[in-house]
Amino acid sequence: MKKKIAVIFGDGIGPEVTRQSVNILNTVARVYLHEFEFVYCLMGAEAIDKTGNPLPDETITACRNSDAVLLGAIGHPKYDHDPRAGVRPEQGLLQLRRSLQLYANIRPVTTYPALQRLSPLKAMQTEGVDFVIFRELTGGIYFGKKERDEEQTRASDECVYTRSEIERIGHLAFQQAQQRRKKLTLVDKANVLETSRLWRKVVQEMADGYPDVEVDYMFVDNAAMQLIVNPKQFDVILTENMFGDILSDEASVIAGSLGLLPSASVGDGVALFEPIHGSYPQAAGKDIANPIGSVLSAAMMLDHLGLGTEAEVIREAVAWTLKHNFVTRDIDPVNFYLTTTVGELICEYIGNKVPGQTDEQDTGLRGSTII
Ligand code: IPM
Ligand code: MG
Repeated sequence: MKKKIAVIFGDGIGPEVTRQSVNILNTVARVYLHEFEFVYCLMGAEAIDKTGNPLPDETITACRNSDAVLLGAIGHPKYDHDPRAGVRPEQGLLQLRRSLQLYANIRPVTTYPALQRLSPLKAMQTEGVDFVIFRELTGGIYFGKKERDEEQTRASDECVYTRSEIERIGHLAFQQAQQRRKKLTLVDKANVLETSRLWRKVVQEMADGYPDVEVDYMFVDNAAMQLIVNPKQFDVILTENMFGDILSDEASVIAGSLGLLPSASVGDGVALFEPIHGSYPQAAGKDIANPIGSVLSAAMMLDHLGLGTEAEVIREAVAWTLKHNFVTRDIDPVNFYLTTTVGELICEYIGNKVPGQTDEQDTGLRGSTII
């Protein structure tokens, strides 16, 4: 199969983790006889530095002309504490989501037994956790009218949702629930917000079309608590943009490391895949960042492109590295492996194809204890 993939390295650790994914995709292409063409584009702080624009037009065009987009991370501290900054790297990401109409952000949360010790929750709560968050990504307070008066005494952000915006992501979430444990939880604040009451009404109406899916409704404050107290109860969580942003970061710690989790942002056209972690500037260029979030995002991308077997082999390779403790410093601060080494080991595993064939003695020699 021939596919064109737009790659946006982005800022901070974005380039180094994404490079591992590209190497792994090249290995998959070699082993499974596919052809992946990578088209590199600018976005975020790097794009501002080079062009003055966080999302150059060529990037939008290149993404539109591709089969999928693989993104590293966006953000740089030099913009974070400067309220006068005219342009910010994150604007590039928000504009890209809007331009490509990536209205559903999908974030699966699963736990690995080998990493239980890293979770702030007890094993009893995390064992067997397996849910997916469907976060609306192109509407709500993120994209509503924004105002601030000249005297700097009043500001507002409008939150608007339309029926069609709710329905299009709603269908994706219901369909996903049908393929999973058939439970959908709508998270809202319908006791206070008018937009939430519309979400509830529309989802209630849609539920008739999916009689095999059990639907429940939860206020967002309660959901924030339930995610910690009893995360196992969730299968598919459907929610609006801002609630989804907050809950998905909260949910990410259940697995033990933010560095492990992938995400997909989909619409009706080209889809985008990125790890859920940020640009982690303190670690940039040190070869210590965890590449797994990006690598699993690449696996989600292959699934989306119809290459399920190839996606599965990547996930199997990742599980193998975790099981054998071939992990980066965030997971084991003493006996850790470098970003590039973890990437190479995954390539070797996929290259050999047969599980367990990669020589463990050889891999052991590549461990690092430099702190
Ligand atoms: C995310 C991020 C973004 C968001 C930021 C970088 C604008 O937190 O993808 O969750 O808030 O959507
Ligand atoms: Mg976020």
